[in-house]
Amino acid sequence: MTEIPEHLLKRSQARRGAAGDAAAPAAAATPAVPNAAAPAVAAPKAPAVPAGPPPAKPDIPVVAAYKARKKIPVWAMLTLSILPVWMFMYVLALKPVVAKATGPLGAGTKVYAGNCGSCHGAGGEGGVGYAFTGGSVTTTFPHIEDQLRWVKLGSAAYVAAGVQVAGDPNREGGAHVAGASGVMPAAASGLGLTDVEILAVVCHERFDLAGAAEDSEEFLAWCSPESEIYLALEAGTATFDNLHEQFEGVMAIGSVPLPGSGPTGA
Ligand code: HEC
Repeated sequence: MTEIPEHLLKRSQARRGAAGDAAAPAAAATPAVPNAAAPAVAAPKAPAVPAGPPPAKPDIPVVAAYKARKKIPVWAMLTLSILPVWMFMYVLALKPVVAKATGPLGAGTKVYAGNCGSCHGAGGEGGVGYAFTGGSVTTTFPHIEDQLRWVKLGSAAYVAAGVQVAGDPNREGGAHVAGASGVMPAAASGLGLTDVEILAVVCHERFDLAGAAEDSEEFLAWCSPESEIYLALEAGTATFDNLHEQFEGVMAIGSVPLPGSGPTGA
């Protein structure tokens, strides 16, 4: 180890001490700067302060962070708020396409356009024949069986058989009397439609045009894509003459005019 001579050590210590002394006043002076600046800054503000409320307390960090957050612009909020409405409309627009692609409603829409729309209106709004919209046709025929029989046989057969009312005799708004509003062709003998086509078009009239509820027993039994009655008619294992023998709770349809029934079956 090299010995550092005494005088050198002393000089070094002296120098360090001088530097420290020089730094000390500088450090001491530092706080004086804001102190000196403070009154200068505060001075111009001073006249405004006395009029207003005392200065607000500084926000706690959470609040400060909340205030400083990036805010969502108004146009984005508007766009976002419209989104649910848009989705609702989108689903509504899709629904009929999906529902009508298959099953009785899909087939019935086509049968209707080709055979019935010319007299009853393309959208069931009425024309030469009655309107179906607004629940009108389900008011005439509370039971789908009565409507199937009527459509299959047509008005002339009812008039000839002396059966005046094919639907509800106590219909709200007055019973529809056969032959009173013109001639309704027989879908079977006149238009050449099969039983399964007649069921399909009647499903379309009741559920698409008249707007009957699709969560009803009637819909499940007769008009849903899984309807066993529809599938049996389609497969030819049942006809309007024997449906009531094969399926429970089905009223006889048959091939001759019969008086219609009210909501309770009377
Ligand atoms: C040539 C015109 C014409 C065509 C085509 C026609 N209809 Fe009609 N429809 C009528 C007339 C007219 C009446 C009223 C008959 C009466 O007063 O006896 C009627 C009545 C009805 C009713 C009774 C409605 C109620 O509320 O009383 C139903 C249901 C019906 N038609 C279904 C059909 C179906 C289903 C088809 C297609 C397969 C069809 N019609 C095709 C003219 C027509």
